[in-house]
Amino acid sequence: MSSKMFSSHLLTRSLHSSCQFWKKFPQSLKGKSVAEQRWLVRQLNDPFVKEAKVKNYRCRSAFKLLEIHEKYKILQPGLRVIDCGAAPGAWSQVAVEKVNSDKADLEAPVGFVVGVDLLQITPLEGAQFLPNTDVTNSTTINKLCDLLPLQGADVILSDMAPNASGIKEMDHEKLISMCMSVLDLAHKVLQPGGTFLCKYWDGWQAPLLKAQLAKCFQHVKTVKPQASRQDSAEVFFLALRYKIK
Ligand SMILES: C[S@@+](CC[C@H](N)C(=O)[O-])C[C@H]1O[C@@H](n2cnc3c(N)ncnc32)[C@H](O)[C@@H]1O
Repeated sequence: MSSKMFSSHLLTRSLHSSCQFWKKFPQSLKGKSVAEQRWLVRQLNDPFVKEAKVKNYRCRSAFKLLEIHEKYKILQPGLRVIDCGAAPGAWSQVAVEKVNSDKADLEAPVGFVVGVDLLQITPLEGAQFLPNTDVTNSTTINKLCDLLPLQGADVILSDMAPNASGIKEMDHEKLISMCMSVLDLAHKVLQPGGTFLCKYWDGWQAPLLKAQLAKCFQHVKTVKPQASRQDSAEVFFLALRYKIK
């Protein structure tokens, strides 16, 4: 692999591995390539990485959801949330806090959070997890329905990302197809008026996904939070007020 390709691969990889950063950050940069050193130093200097550590979030991605919530108030006490691609669990932590599924506020309505991921997820008070579970698999809906309250879900979140190949167009198409699977899931469990937030990597199929969302939600917004790195292709669609049930 050429050094340019390696740098680009490392950058793409860094989008997915930053959550494991604290576990992996070495005491020394010795023996690391220039590209690896650059990535590690960026992590070390990233204010969101530092803040996540201070606030005890499992991953800096918590701030993306917090920022979107601050603006659009999508998570309220009592709401039922599905978190797709939940590991290591930072979005679920935010969801638990906001919907009060851990009953931290005795006065407020109690919500519900279920997180799904291909990976294991460390338990979290106020959340249930379906680890080793593929959101895009047709049997996952049954497992989710076994856990969800009868009425279904009010909010579906997806921060899922496939293992990136480094081939931009292929990775983009794969993630859009995963978002479409989450939309299928929404058609089965999302309540009228519900909210859908999904991450995608920008590319030619993004308008197709947006058009699908626009058919069944009253508003579809394209959101790029400050906490999302400017050099990343990552963007979010926030679809509000689900119309079909
Ligand atoms: C960027 S991480 C999510 C971080 C998470 N939102 C948090 O705040 O902790 C993306 C996750 O998507 C998961 N993922 C990828 N494909 C998936 C699939 N088909 N089903 C379930 N999870 C998937 C990965 O295992 C990975 O943990």
